[in-house]
Amino acid sequence: MIRVLSVASECAPLVKTGGLADVAGALPQALGRQDVEMRTLLPGYPAVMKAVEAGREVYSWSELYGGPARLIAAEAAGLSLFVLEAAHLFDRSGGIYLDGDGEDWSDNPERFAALCRAGAEICCGSAGWQPDVAHGHDWQAGLLPYFLKKDGITLPSVMTIHNIAFAGMAEPSHIHRLGMDPADFQMDGYEFWGRVSLLKAGLYWCDRITTVSPRYARELTTPAFGMGFEGLISARRGDLTGILNGIDTDAWDPATDTAIQQFRSFRSKSGAVRALREEVGLPPSNGPLAVVVSRLSEQKGLDLLIEALPEYLEAGGQLALLGAGNRSLENAWREAAERHQGVSINIGYEEALSHRMMAGGDAVLVPSRFEPCGLTQLYGLRYGAIPVVARVGGLADTVIDANDAALRTGVATGIVHSPDSVEALSLALIRMVELHASPDLWSRMGRTAMRHPVGWDVSAGEYADLYRDLVST
Ligand code: ADP
Ligand code: GLC
Repeated sequence: MIRVLSVASECAPLVKTGGLADVAGALPQALGRQDVEMRTLLPGYPAVMKAVEAGREVYSWSELYGGPARLIAAEAAGLSLFVLEAAHLFDRSGGIYLDGDGEDWSDNPERFAALCRAGAEICCGSAGWQPDVAHGHDWQAGLLPYFLKKDGITLPSVMTIHNIAFAGMAEPSHIHRLGMDPADFQMDGYEFWGRVSLLKAGLYWCDRITTVSPRYARELTTPAFGMGFEGLISARRGDLTGILNGIDTDAWDPATDTAIQQFRSFRSKSGAVRALREEVGLPPSNGPLAVVVSRLSEQKGLDLLIEALPEYLEAGGQLALLGAGNRSLENAWREAAERHQGVSINIGYEEALSHRMMAGGDAVLVPSRFEPCGLTQLYGLRYGAIPVVARVGGLADTVIDANDAALRTGVATGIVHSPDSVEALSLALIRMVELHASPDLWSRMGRTAMRHPVGWDVSAGEYADLYRDLVST
């Protein structure tokens, strides 16, 4: 049995803004089947504190980054948790990273430095449980490997990159306040273009780096995708592994999913599509209903989709979008929905509706400019919504394009197009409309898609092998 401490800034079902939460929430259970005991350290946001009311204090600080703090150990939502209760850092209304105006909390570096300090303390055995490996996710956990190395704690550490676009930047004037050594503010250290990057601290001092798909691992070594980290990541290529995300196949099970209960009586995709059309207020149609469930950010390429809409709608397609995020993208989608009859939008975050979108969508669109893994195309495969995706990162690793060879051999599961191009996206959408008009081909693709393995078993085995390797070296 190997014990692993996972340090994450969000974790489903307790607190979620994106796929990181899904992964942090599903991995411990999947690893349990691989003889790995994973416990998760989370910040004590209000929603998390509520879930661990029955927990017990296992460690405390009279002062941690500006106020008193306690570590609470608890079981909640099927997870073994350590929660860092520190009201001055985490007990706030608003988002977990953003304030009411949509700006980063100005003390984000300190908030997550505190989380990593607590992680390092657990790694010393101070919380009554001794891990063998420390595993941090994204920049918020970047200081975990740093503190371990600096404090001479010999535990091996793994950093997983879920999204390199978030570098965890801080001003050099904060170095002391963050508990970092000014001597390490250099290129061979945590300095990044004249500022401090908490992600770089993690990537520089950890023992192994993983990311969430094999293709993104290769992309990260290139200037086009590495976002300034390509040099460091290339230098550490030998320590880098791409391990594909899975999805929680119990929470996302079309046979038992309570969110789609009312759709199941139809017993066919077309019935579910009709019901979703009705729910989102789209008129009846013989063409395909495509869905999008996404954060609205530059990464996701949904500005390109607005431009590709007229041709797609003209060809007989419809679109339903569920998303929230960037204010100007939200407004652009509001305008698009007003302009076009075949477009329905829902600006907000709605877990149950996101399930119905997958169940009632003929296709799911993910036209991202970059995508470390992506989970919505996996939900689409599982619920028979054919993924139409850009050829990047985990999207390219999980969807088999319906080219002629794949159609002839019956292995096609979706449509894959060049990224960052309105023309390529338009062509892919027209191709989707055409394939949808051939019921035999389309339903065969749907069946193949639904058989595609999207669970965690294989990937959890790869994480377990990585941990074993680290512990034995
Ligand atoms: P990312 O982490 O970059 O946002 P992923 O595809 O990995 O992308 O994960 C996104 C997760 O967030 C999925 O579980 C998706 O269903 C969910 N999600 C995104 N936007 C919404 C929304 N508006 N409503 C409900 N769920 C959403
Ligand atoms: C990130 C990525 C996404 C990935 C998720 C979980 O937010 O943008 O592609 O699926 O993390 O690893």
